[in-house]
Amino acid sequence: MKCRVCGKPANINLRSYKTALCEEDFIAFLEKRVSATIGKYRLIDEADRPIVAVSGGKDSLSLWYMMNKLGYVSDGIYIDLGIEGYSERSLEKVRQMADTLRRRVYVFHVRNALQKGIDGVARVIRRPTCSACGTIKRYIMNRVCIDKGYTVLATGHNLDDEASALFGNVLYWKREYLWKKNVVLEGRGEHLVKKIKPFFLCSEREIAAYAIMKGIDYIYEECPYSEGAKTLVYKEMLNRIEESSPGTKIMFVKGYLKMLKEKGDEKEDGRESRYCLRCGYPTFSDKCSFCWLLDKFGTEYDVEFDQYN
Ligand code: AMP
Ligand code: FES
Ligand code: ZN
Repeated sequence: MKCRVCGKPANINLRSYKTALCEEDFIAFLEKRVSATIGKYRLIDEADRPIVAVSGGKDSLSLWYMMNKLGYVSDGIYIDLGIEGYSERSLEKVRQMADTLRRRVYVFHVRNALQKGIDGVARVIRRPTCSACGTIKRYIMNRVCIDKGYTVLATGHNLDDEASALFGNVLYWKREYLWKKNVVLEGRGEHLVKKIKPFFLCSEREIAAYAIMKGIDYIYEECPYSEGAKTLVYKEMLNRIEESSPGTKIMFVKGYLKMLKEKGDEKEDGRESRYCLRCGYPTFSDKCSFCWLLDKFGTEYDVEFDQYN
């Protein structure tokens, strides 16, 4: 197999694009796609101050690296969930990348805030670990932007994440979630920051190849509590379909985005927006889910970040 651009031996075969590329041309190809996504969906303006949510995994570390390389100078935020071993190892990867990029990373330690790791927190509030984890991550990612003046929050969600979530929503016809996924979710003034997913159209395989080619040192392990089961099954199913009909995954997600655009911004949720009386975060009652969680712990704690670099 030869690289379609330069004719040298190819390093990766991209069946969904009916092409094969050498390392150098693949890197350029993927970076071009991300640049195009950022441009087409107006993810980042010149005046913006972006920050990347970095978990230590391949997607978010590659995204942080690529955004800085493409000229979207950005810092990072890492949420230490207090999972023994795994959280320290992930933080180490994040710090390494912060040093490579010479960028700052903010670190929020769940254990400093609540004296327990995420599994202990989940037990106190009687929720599944992943649900407690989601509440804290969403809140803290937003809070760092509000407190430190970042205007856009980027996450490393990739095509496989989006396709499997979409698949699950369609399978069970979860109408309340179905049309909520997008490459960009606009913010709400000083309450909610704009969220972007520049890797929306890049597959997990492509990002893994990019990370390896670029020598990005990431954590291979999955979170021990990763809700896994269902989404992993969907990812596997979609990969099998992709195997026999290359290009299906990207068509599925692009088709969704097209329908979403045609559908326009109909407000499906009749509930009016309200904001937490304590901290200003969007909520459907007087108190947001994070402040509710703090109450459960009987703590007056206010959010603090460690800073690295
Ligand atoms: P996941 O929900 O684990 O698939 O992660 C999706 C995205 O959320 C990642 O690509 C990161 O951008 C972000 N993320 C996940 N875990 C963390 C974490 N502990 N700290 C900061 N960002 C995270
Ligand atoms: Fe949320 Fe592991 S518990 S990522
Ligand atoms: Zn609140």
